[in-house]
Amino acid sequence: MRIGILGSGLMGGKLGTLFARAGHEVVFSYARSEAKLKRLARAAKGKARAGTPREAVEAADALLLAVHWSRMDDVLTQAGDLRGKVVVSCSLPMNHDDTALVVAHTSSGAEELAKRIAGAHFVSAFNTVPSEVLFRVYAAKRKASRPSLVYCGDDAIGKKAAVRLIRDLGFEPLDAGPLRIARYTEPFALLVAELAYERKGGPQLAYRFNRYRR
Ligand SMILES: NC(=O)c1ccc[n+]([C@@H]2O[C@H](COP(=O)([O-])OP(=O)(O)OC[C@H]3O[C@@H](n4cnc5c(N)ncnc54)[C@H](OP(=O)(O)O)[C@@H]3O)[C@@H](O)[C@H]2O)c1
Repeated sequence: MRIGILGSGLMGGKLGTLFARAGHEVVFSYARSEAKLKRLARAAKGKARAGTPREAVEAADALLLAVHWSRMDDVLTQAGDLRGKVVVSCSLPMNHDDTALVVAHTSSGAEELAKRIAGAHFVSAFNTVPSEVLFRVYAAKRKASRPSLVYCGDDAIGKKAAVRLIRDLGFEPLDAGPLRIARYTEPFALLVAELAYERKGGPQLAYRFNRYRR
């Protein structure tokens, strides 16, 4: 797949790097310095390059949206027309100091974004794991037991692309249902962050759901 990264920070930088290592063609965009985007592209060691958000969109089948909620308007304005593109968002609707969700209960960040970029194949994924675990999961992807990764959305094309990317990174995709389920997955992401950053053991943390049948 040709993947444009909109937001090349902790999440976008690592996810983009791993997508490139998994064989996808990646354009890193949206950071405060072009030098950083070029550095990421060089270090990814695959088919990766730096570009503007507009260039990332033009060259892409799928976009990863990975910015702080406060930067969303800016990045989407710079990105331009996303109609017909798969948009995978790992973004959470956090307040300025990352202490609370600013959209919750009756809507979710994902639902608000999907309305904002109507016409895109939108899916919410990758926001329930800390960036620090991504390389470890990728390195362990040949092992039998993979960690789960919940995703949700209303668009079959978006979900199909997300499943492929989730698998490529070493997780077992778990379809949590329609996009309104982001009202549950987004607070769940805060629980994972609490365990990762505030409890003992470090942020290299992923989760696994098991079903037990008789
Ligand atoms: N970090 C996690 O573990 C994690 C986990 C789950 C979900 N999330 C969610 O994922 C999203 C991305 O998180 P993140 O931790 O990757 O954020 P981040 O590290 O802050 O990355 C955001 C990107 O936006 C860029 N940016 C910020 N202001 C900019 C500006 N004025 N002009 C151009 N670029 C600008 C940053 O540039 P620089 O590179 O120059 O800083 C960075 O590349 C957020 O919505 C977050 O809630 C994060």
